[in-house]
Order: sequence, then structure tokens, then C-alpha cells
Amino acid sequence: MNFYLQLIVGFFLAYVIKKIFLTKKDKQIPGMEPRSKDMGNLEDLGRAGSLHQFLVGLHDKYGKIASFWFGTQQIVSISSPEMFKEQQSVFDRPLLLFQLFEPFIGPNSLQYANKDDGKGRRKEYDRSMSHKAVTRYLGEFNAAVNEIIDMLCKDMEGGISEHALCTHMATFALKVDLMTLFGNVSDDSKITEFHNNYNVCWSEMGSRLGGKFPEPGSEQEENFQTALNGAKDFVKGVVEIREKLEITEENERFIDILIRHCADEDTLLSDAITYVVGGFHTTANSLAWGFYFIAGNSAVQDKLHAEISEHCGKHDSIGISSINKCVYLKQVFDETLRCSVLAPFAARYLDEDILLGGYPIPGGTPIVHALGVSLQNPEYFPEPSKFDPDRFSPENIKNRPSTAFQPFGVGKRICPGHRFANMEAAVCIAAMVRKFEIGLVDGQKIEPVHGLVTHPSAEIMITLKQRH
Ligand code: HEM
Repeated sequence: MNFYLQLIVGFFLAYVIKKIFLTKKDKQIPGMEPRSKDMGNLEDLGRAGSLHQFLVGLHDKYGKIASFWFGTQQIVSISSPEMFKEQQSVFDRPLLLFQLFEPFIGPNSLQYANKDDGKGRRKEYDRSMSHKAVTRYLGEFNAAVNEIIDMLCKDMEGGISEHALCTHMATFALKVDLMTLFGNVSDDSKITEFHNNYNVCWSEMGSRLGGKFPEPGSEQEENFQTALNGAKDFVKGVVEIREKLEITEENERFIDILIRHCADEDTLLSDAITYVVGGFHTTANSLAWGFYFIAGNSAVQDKLHAEISEHCGKHDSIGISSINKCVYLKQVFDETLRCSVLAPFAARYLDEDILLGGYPIPGGTPIVHALGVSLQNPEYFPEPSKFDPDRFSPENIKNRPSTAFQPFGVGKRICPGHRFANMEAAVCIAAMVRKFEIGLVDGQKIEPVHGLVTHPSAEIMITLKQRH
């Protein structure tokens, strides 16, 4: 080799070695220093108002990958489609950010199950959420929305009437959840009792999230335990009924898979409640936001109504072929999930050291997926706070990476209920929009409140006028 060639090869090797060395050892993830040794950046998090708002500020300042301290634990957060892609094959979820819900959903919940246990459960449970299975739930979706529509029509005294949107969507979503997950085994009074118990448990979790923990033996603690036992008794009652039925592929429900697969009663009750929690607030709030946006955008509502009239008939049950034809309806729901930032974050971890976006991450470090930051990224969604379903037209989708829009999470541990939620929303929106012209009562100020799920700051009042 001549001298010059040797020199070039030498420089090249030195460059490669330096690059590997720097990447693996020295490349520091940008991010926040802890404010104090014990509290880390928890004070900053509290000041931001929610984890989502904190992550918006964090990524704005430090870029697509950034670190912060949750107490004494360093956490890495990512917000770019490319890094979401790198995480697609990771299954395990860290406890840290979701541990507060443990008293409600139980330590055996799927939410906390990793490795072979978690993967095995998901493999079994996902059968009840496949496209084929969810198509079988269309009867329940239609029945539940028709019930709500009948109720709304009874409340109407001719002309235009006002209704509490969030309350109605909560009633609808819980009924759908219970009917489909557990089979149609409960009368309305039992569902109402379950709803009341559930509300006590949920608001107790809210208090704890706000730092208000009950004293052991206090009335607050006792009320929570009584309500939780009531919710569990409801599930035990369902199990008793289902065990006496002959279960076929046609009538099999999530609860039947739990009965067959769960090693013990605690796990069965935990996972039954986990799926109710996972499916209830998410779908109720997605529908409340959906109708809020539809009511506030008459051009969107007109276009949607025209499509629904063309494909869904006037009174027919809404079936899979109609849903598949309603392309704009899907765009409206996708834009609802994006614009409302419905579920703002997820998380993963790996036991071993990895490289993520070229940065070294020590094994065991929780990695937050800042889904909400990505959903509002102006690079992919210009004027991100504007509600514009055309962002999801077939032509516009092609112009951005698919992982920029991940409202149900990323990869192997994506939300098991994503098909369920899409189908339920399609039926509910199509049935409501073909029946009513929907408007907003004037003078309301509705803001998003970002928790685990983003909900409206107050009840949304809508006006309804029957279409002819
Ligand atoms: C619009 C509606 C919904 C949204 C936006 C949503 C969003 C999410 C997200 C972001 C996750 C975390 C995924 C991850 O870690 O990457 C999740 C998990 C989960 N969701 Fe949903 N979800 C919705 C509806 C549902 C429904 C209808 C059900 C059940 C009937 C459900 C049950 C669950 C469960 C059980 C988990 C935890 C799964 C596990 O630990 O493996 N969700 N959801």
C-alpha cells in the first residue's frame, strides 16, 4: 500500500474507532439536572401541571430525546417517529409511572406483567380483541347507542334541546365495555351499582395522584375498600353465570378467556378490572371530544353526515361494510385522538444496555414514549391545535412517517383495545350524526386536562336537533 493510501486508511480507522467510542461511552443524553437528590425534577413536574405538559416543555428545550429525574430515578423520554420505531420490539413496561393505580387494578394486573408472563397473557387475551371478535360486538355497540338515542329523544321537547355530553358518553361507554367484555349478563341496576363503585375507586385514585393519601383505617380508605369489593363482587357474579354457559367461538367473551387462562382468582379480578378501566375512560372521553369537535365545526359535520347518509342507511344497524366505506368518519376519529391528545404517554424498559437514537441507555432505565408530544408536532401536523380531519386523507397520510401518529402506543405492547375503540366510535358517531344535528351551547370554556387520559375541564353542553 502506498503511503497516502495508508494515511487515509489510518485516518478512517481512527475516525470510526472514535465514533464508536464516543457513541457507546461519552455521548450524553441532553436533559435536566435533578433539582434535589431525593426529589429529582418532581417539583418541575408538579409545576408543569401534568406529565404531558412537562414533556412538551422538556422536548421543546432539549430535542427528540431528553432525560429528567423522577425522584432518584433517571428517565429518558423520546418523541420522534424514528425512535418510536426503534422501540417497536420492546415489550416490558416499567412500574414507576403507573404504580399509583395498583390499589385499584391490583398487583397481579397485566399492566405490571412483563416478560413471558405478560407476553403469554397478551397472546391469550388479544383473541378477544381481534378484528373478527370485535366485529361480533357490533350488535352490542348498536344496541347501546340506540338506547342512548332513545333516551335523548325522550328528553326532547320538540325543536332543539340541551344535553350533558360527557355524562351520556360515560353511560354509553361503560355499558358497551361491560356488555362486550363480560357478555350480556347484567341488568341495568347492577350496571348502575358497578358504575357508582367504579366512580368512588377512580376518584380515590385521582386524590392519590394529587398527593392526598388516606390514613390507614380512615373513612376515606374504608369507602375505597368497600367500593372496590363491590366492583369485584360484580365480576364474581359474572363469572358464576358464565361458568354455567356453554361457550362457543361465537359467544366467547374476554371474561371466558380469563376464566380459562388465569392461574388464580386475584389475577382474574385484576385483569377484568384492568380491561374495564382501560376501555372505559378512554372511549368515553374520545367520544366526548369527538362530538365536541364535530359540534364546533359545521363543515366537518355536513361532510360527515353526507358520507353517513350515503353508506349507513336511515335506520339500519351499522355493520362492518358500512363502517369500511365511511373513510371520512375514520379521519374524523383519528383527528379527534390526535387533537385531544387522548392518551399522552406510554413507557418501556429493557434489562440490558441499549443504544437509542445513537445514545447509550443503561439497562433498567424507564423510557417514556411522549406520544402526545409527537401528536402535536408541527413538523408533521402544522397548526397542531386546529381540528382538521383532512390531515388523515389517504394523500396526506403518505407525507409523514406512520409512527408520527401512535395514539394507541407503539409496537408489541400497543393497546389491545385499538380495534374495539375504533369500531365502537364508528358506530356511535355514525348513529348520532345521522339522527341529530349537533351544536355547542354558547359561552362554554372547555380546556383539556391531561392525566393518564385527557378529559375536558368541565361538562360539555351540546344542543341536539332531530334530522328529518
Ligand atoms: C380511544 C381509546 C383508547 C386509547 C387512546 C387507548 C390508549 C392506550 C395506550 C396509549 C396504552 C399503552 C400502550 C403502550 O404501552 O404502548 C393502552 C394500554 C391498554 N389499553 Fe388502551 N386505549 C383505548 C381503548 C382501550 C379499550 C377499548 C380497551 C379494552 C377494552 C383498552 C385496554 C387497554 C389495556 C388493558 C392496556 C394495557 C395493556 C398491557 O399492559 O399490555 N384500551 N391503551
